[in-house]
Amino acid sequence: MDFEFDLENRIVDPEGIPEDTELENPLRPKVLSEYIGQEKVKENLSVFIEAAKLRKESLDHVLLYGPPGLGKTTLAGIIANELNVNIRITSGPAIEKPGDLAALLTNLNTGDVLFIDEIHRLSRSVEEILYPAMEDFAIDIITGKGQMAASYHLPLPRFTLVGATTRAGQLTAPLRDRFGVVLRLEMYTPEELATIVRRSASILNIPVDQEGALEIASRSRGTPRIANRLLKRVRDFAQVISDGLITYETAKTALDRLEIDELGLDANDRRMLDTLIRYYKGGPVGLETLAAAIGEEAVTIEDVYEPYLMQIGFLNRTPRGRCATHAAYLHLGLTPPGMEAAQQKLF
Ligand code: ADE
Repeated sequence: MDFEFDLENRIVDPEGIPEDTELENPLRPKVLSEYIGQEKVKENLSVFIEAAKLRKESLDHVLLYGPPGLGKTTLAGIIANELNVNIRITSGPAIEKPGDLAALLTNLNTGDVLFIDEIHRLSRSVEEILYPAMEDFAIDIITGKGQMAASYHLPLPRFTLVGATTRAGQLTAPLRDRFGVVLRLEMYTPEELATIVRRSASILNIPVDQEGALEIASRSRGTPRIANRLLKRVRDFAQVISDGLITYETAKTALDRLEIDELGLDANDRRMLDTLIRYYKGGPVGLETLAAAIGEEAVTIEDVYEPYLMQIGFLNRTPRGRCATHAAYLHLGLTPPGMEAAQQKLF
C-alpha cells in the first residue's frame, strides 16, 4: 500500500503540539464572558461559580470531557480566574507515583484549582490517593516498611479538582462518581469558530474580513485549536500572494494549497476513508484492522479522526465495526454501493 502519512506535521491535528502553547497562551480567554460557544457549559458553570463564591466555599470538583482541542485547559484557567484562586496544571501521565500527587496536593492553598489533563491516564495507585483527597480532603501516607511502617493522616485544604478527558467512558466509576459537576464540550459551529478566528486575529494583529474568517472556520473541523493554527498559516499566504488581508479568496487559495478541503479533511482523513472504502468495501471493519491498515494507533483513530468524521456523518461506529456512509463515498468522488445500477440507468 502506498500510504504516506505525515503525522508529525499534521496541521489539522486537534491534539496540542508545543508550538500551540506559544500560540494559544495570548489567545486564551481569561473570563467566561470572553469565552465563545459552549453556551450550555458556560451557563451552568457560571451558576456554580457564583454559588460557590456566595457561600465562600470551594467549587465542587469538575470533570470536562470531549474531543481534543475544544478548550478544556482554557476553561480550567477561566474557572480558577473567576474564583480568584491559583491553578496548578498537570496531567495523568505526568503524575507517576502516589508521592508526586501527594506533593501537588499538599502545596495547594484553600480554594485552589488542581487541573489534571488526560485524567483517564492516571495509574491505579495514584488514583487511589485521589479518592480520599477529593472526598474527605485528606490523604493517608504510609512511610517505611515492616515494623517501621507508619501511617499519617494528612488533612488537605479544600480544593477544586478540574479533570479533563477525551474519554469519559474510560474513567473508573469511583473516580467519575466523585465529580459533582460533569460537563461535556461540543464541537463548535462554523459561525462560533469564525468569531473565535476574528478575536484571535485582532489579538495577533492579523487583518481578516468576515468571509475570510468564515472560510478558515468552516475548514477547522469544529475545533478552535485548528482554527487558530490555520489562521497563522493562511496569514503567511495572504502576505505573500496578496496584500496581507485575509479574504475569502486568499483563505480558499491557502487552504487548497495546504490540501485541507471544504470540510476540513486533510490528506490523512481522506486516505483513511479511502482505505475503508476500497480495501474493506466501506466496512464494517474492526477498529484494530483499520488501525493496522493505515499504520495508526487505534486510540488515535478513536480520539482524533473519528469524532469529526462522525459529526459530519461520514462514518458510523457499529457493533460489527466501522462503516463509511454514502456521504463519505460522494465526498471522495466515489459511487456508493447500490447506486451503480442507478448510475448506469442514468447514463
Ligand atoms: N480560543 C480558543 N477557544 C476559544 C473560545 N472558546 N473562545 C474564545 N477564544 C478561544
